[in-house]
Amino acid sequence: MVIAVDGPAASGKGTLARRLAAHYGLPYLDTGLLYRMVARAMRDAGKDIHDAEAATVIVSTFDEKAFAEDSLRGREIGEAASVVAAMPAVRKGLIDRQRRFAGQPGGAVLDGRDIGTVICPEAPAKLFVTATPEVRAARRHKELAGRGELATFDGILADIRRRDARDSGRSDAPLKAAEDADILDTSALTVEEAVAAAIAIVDARRAG
Ligand code: DC
Repeated sequence: MVIAVDGPAASGKGTLARRLAAHYGLPYLDTGLLYRMVARAMRDAGKDIHDAEAATVIVSTFDEKAFAEDSLRGREIGEAASVVAAMPAVRKGLIDRQRRFAGQPGGAVLDGRDIGTVICPEAPAKLFVTATPEVRAARRHKELAGRGELATFDGILADIRRRDARDSGRSDAPLKAAEDADILDTSALTVEEAVAAAIAIVDARRAG
């Protein structure tokens, strides 16, 4: 069974996707990390993040194993990932590896922005995880503080609004819920409540 989990930045989709993967015993892919790797490789090569030609070369040559996950999780790389993710050649260059992962025997859980719409449109279970920008900013603020990254709540809220606008407004595979996705608003839910709701959604889809 393939489970597609999409949603905006800091919506809680990563936590939910990881928990769903553990619950159903499926492999998990955080596809945002792939875009973050391209952004990191651009930075490491000294390229301007808006240089689409350089990004086209990097997306076909970068080595997934070359990056420590911690070096990909920061605020600045998230922002840069959102810029390269708007480039059609970058999106195209990452499709095959995502589909190969999803095509494993038994299935997989993938989270991102376009899993239910573009990467795995046939997935039997699709969740679109959302929360208000303020709730997402508060969660990101806490997460970054835990990593020792100092940022104000207002600065993070501005980041989130900018990223939402860029991820939703791009012409190629914009962030949006698939027509057959179940929407899960986690604004007022604890992690455990959100996990229970997500499992109930997937079980209902599996049943029929
Ligand atoms: O989920 P994340 O914050 O790690 O993603 C970083 C950026 O990558 C995000 O702003 C948009 C992009 N992205 C995408 O366009 N499509 C995906 N499937 C996953 C991420």
